[in-house]
Amino acid sequence: MTINILLRSTKASDLDLVLSAEQHPDNCNFVYQWDYQTHFNALTDDNFRHYVITNPEHKFLGYVILDNVKDSSNSINLRRLVVTRKGESIGKQTVRLIQKLAFEELNAHRLWLDVFVDNQRAYNLYKQVGFREEGKLIESYLRNNQYASQYIMAILKHEYEILSELMG
Ligand SMILES: CC(C)(COP(=O)(O)OP(=O)(O)OC[C@H]1O[C@@H](n2cnc3c(N)ncnc32)[C@H](O)[C@@H]1OP(=O)(O)O)[C@@H](O)C(=O)NCCC(=O)NCCS
Repeated sequence: MTINILLRSTKASDLDLVLSAEQHPDNCNFVYQWDYQTHFNALTDDNFRHYVITNPEHKFLGYVILDNVKDSSNSINLRRLVVTRKGESIGKQTVRLIQKLAFEELNAHRLWLDVFVDNQRAYNLYKQVGFREEGKLIESYLRNNQYASQYIMAILKHEYEILSELMG
């Protein structure tokens, strides 16, 4: 059964849950780590959109951050996504809502992200919702004292529109 999800703007009072999800052992190797103040600053910075994911009963299911919202080339970055209950389509639904927001409200021409090459679950999810692999950054990030590589993935507005039409 698919859980219905909602996105709402993150409040300062949500940040303890956000930080504990970000730092959780299941997630911390796959997402960058920010401190409280960096998250807090992003809540009021126009260049970011910071949302919590909830079910209709307002239970916290994760969070998602967009960056470069004001980019002069309309290239918005899906900066971070963490879902606390895995494998229940919450991630997929969130990315679809984020695509709709980026392309239909925030005037994105391109929505892009980076994903560690060993993050098979996230990579599969992004492929499923229309992101293309644009390239690989070799040993671009020092993670736990080892250099890790990342794929850059993106979807353009016209690709999103074709996909939306196909999905009805
Ligand atoms: C990556 C993440 C956001 C995915 O969210 P999710 O809700 O668990 O994923 P979904 O249930 O929506 O699955 C979507 C697709 O991902 C793929 N997937 C799901 N679980 C998988 C697994 N264990 N292994 C490989 N692929 C998997 C499948 O293609 C799936 O589609 P399907 O169910 O139609 O087959 C979530 O697992 C997470 O928060 N992971 C830790 C943090 C992270 O990696 N964030 C992304 C950084 S780029």
